[in-house]
Amino acid sequence: MKTITLDLNATQQFVAPQTIEQLKPAATAARQALEEGTCLGADFLGWLHLPSSISEAFIAEIQATAETLRRECDIVVVAGIGGSYLGARAIIEALNDSFAQLRQERKAPHVLFAGNNIAEDYLAELTSLLKGQRFGVINISKSGTTTETALAFRLLKKQCEEQRGKEEARRVIVAITDAKRGAARTTADKEGYKSFIIPDNVGGRFSVLTPVGLLPIAVAGYDIAQLIAGATEMERATGLDTPFEENIAMRYAATRNALYAQGKKIEILANYQPKLHYIAEWWKQLYGESEGKQGKGIFPASVDLTTDLHSMGQWIQDGERTIFETVLSVEEPTHTLLFPTDEENLDGLNFLAGRRIDQVNKMAELGTKLAHVDGGVPNIRIVLPQLSEYTIGALIYFFEVACGISGLMLGVNPFDQPGVEAYKKNMFALLGKPGYEEAGEALRKRL
Ligand code: PA5
Repeated sequence: MKTITLDLNATQQFVAPQTIEQLKPAATAARQALEEGTCLGADFLGWLHLPSSISEAFIAEIQATAETLRRECDIVVVAGIGGSYLGARAIIEALNDSFAQLRQERKAPHVLFAGNNIAEDYLAELTSLLKGQRFGVINISKSGTTTETALAFRLLKKQCEEQRGKEEARRVIVAITDAKRGAARTTADKEGYKSFIIPDNVGGRFSVLTPVGLLPIAVAGYDIAQLIAGATEMERATGLDTPFEENIAMRYAATRNALYAQGKKIEILANYQPKLHYIAEWWKQLYGESEGKQGKGIFPASVDLTTDLHSMGQWIQDGERTIFETVLSVEEPTHTLLFPTDEENLDGLNFLAGRRIDQVNKMAELGTKLAHVDGGVPNIRIVLPQLSEYTIGALIYFFEVACGISGLMLGVNPFDQPGVEAYKKNMFALLGKPGYEEAGEALRKRL
């Protein structure tokens, strides 16, 4: 089956092939350190050979739980944030019909997301929407103590039990959490929920190919075996046995590090398919949390094109020259639709009539690439033959392994996220959480 490819041609006028070649030892050493578990953060390498280690029996267990939720629910709410949320949403939206939420006829329950904000309106509107509905809940939290997720779960559990009764609610609430620790584990064990484990050695942002992503994706009706097959092929293709010259993860990591060293501090992930919006959101967490530390790291940004050419296009073309872009390019759309003809031709577009709309999109992509390169923006292209479980699985694993290599080349631990705690400490102190009184006092003096 055709997998993803990497096109670095439009970076060569910014970083000479020799410069990339000089990074071969560093990229290879980083990949080797991942393989041998000798790198910074080596306790969190459980994702590295995850795809090839997933058994058919495990897939079947996830599918069986997904079937129960599909049978018993019209809506399934996934409660989770960050790594416990973005991957599932990214993959479901990339594969879904763009208007899935509005379609009357549907084969799978609507999958909604909560627990990723503390907005009262969002939660009030969600609970109002769920009134009288046959809904189920997938509660995802590795730590089991994340405020956003715990808050949403409190509301959803209560409502589900009130509407369906405790017994029935038990059948449609699933926990995905740590094997032993945290509130989510304690509640799951006490209530007798079906539960899945997030392995200790897989960090949140690398967890999409564990039940964290697999269960919601299976509930949405997608083939998780194909997703894993695509990831497994990419695990092989980016392994240590594949030399630097052919190893797309090492080459992507080396190129972005070379660009960074030249002052390209921002990487914009661009797509020409709005379905990929959340892939970029997932990618931003992956790279932002992995590399943004010790005063270093490329800032990961994203745009949906051509939409954002009418908002961010000016900046990209002409603003401070500190950016490069990585484009997710889908070769073949799922549907066929032709540019329509119009008798009056007032917009002057009849010259396009009868052509595939995708052909117009592709020329927009090519024209934009050439304009941006002329404007000093290096362009990396990641080509997906089409949007399918297989290609998305490959893309996910590619970004994960390239992220590990890239972070190590940058000299940081790509697998921790110490900075994420800072806002939590302040929030708890300001809210008066027991144990945070002194910190609260100090903060209030600053206000
Ligand atoms: O990547 C990470 O580790 C974090 O972004 C977490 O995924 C996020 O904070 C959610 O944490 P938890 O799953 O413990 O609720």
